[in-house]
Amino acid sequence: MGSVLRILPTMRFYSVALITLLAACGGSQPEAKAPPPPAPAPTAYKDMNLDQRKEFMEKVVLPEMKTTFAAFEPKFADMNCKSCHGKGAEDGSFEMPSAELPVLPNTPEKFAEYAKDPEHARWSKFMVEEVEPKMANLLQLKPFDPATKTGEFSCMACHTTEK
Ligand code: HEC
Ligand code: HEC
Repeated sequence: MGSVLRILPTMRFYSVALITLLAACGGSQPEAKAPPPPAPAPTAYKDMNLDQRKEFMEKVVLPEMKTTFAAFEPKFADMNCKSCHGKGAEDGSFEMPSAELPVLPNTPEKFAEYAKDPEHARWSKFMVEEVEPKMANLLQLKPFDPATKTGEFSCMACHTTEK
């Protein structure tokens, strides 16, 4: 009991010091948290013209997706417009989906069969978990939700399906 009483003043000193310290930190915070001056709202992808879309693909989409793809498969370290657009990158149409990307099965049943191949499964998992949501997010489009069958961006934005 006696020893507790003896250290009490010390503790009080620490708590005062702590409160002062916190107050000091807190004091500088409002300045650090001050909202940045409003930036002009960037044009949404859907409102961009073809030139703006090209520039956006070059500056934002390609670097981001290259990083994502290369982390999955090192050969994508040299990913370029053609990796997704195929010939459309050469003729300037950039039309999507690209018939040069792997053609996907056209029903959930056939897809289940297709995904039994471990390589297809590995790729599909990467596509579902990373490519589709990241790309939808970059384009500010709602990813397709299989449960409600709604959304604006799915596998079929890039891939064609079997006839
Ligand atoms: C990871 C895949 C991917 C890569 C890499 C990529 N794009 Fe795209 N791009 C897309 C998709 C998907 C769309 C279509 C989005 C939509 O409307 O559904 C698109 C759309 C476009 C469009 C708009 C076409 C239209 O009809 O409106 C242009 C232009 C374009 N890309 C240019 C480029 C250029 C230039 C590069 C390289 C610097 C590039 N893209 C790289 C996936 C890609
Ligand atoms: C932004 C464009 C894009 C979207 C969206 C996308 N993919 Fe892909 N996918 C690709 C690219 C690029 C490749 C690699 C092609 C290559 O090897 O050059 C690929 C490859 C694949 C492969 C490998 C096939 C093979 O034979 O090697 C599968 C499977 C696949 N995608 C399934 C899917 C599924 C399922 C979805 C939707 C959940 C999806 N993809 C969404 C661009 C896309």
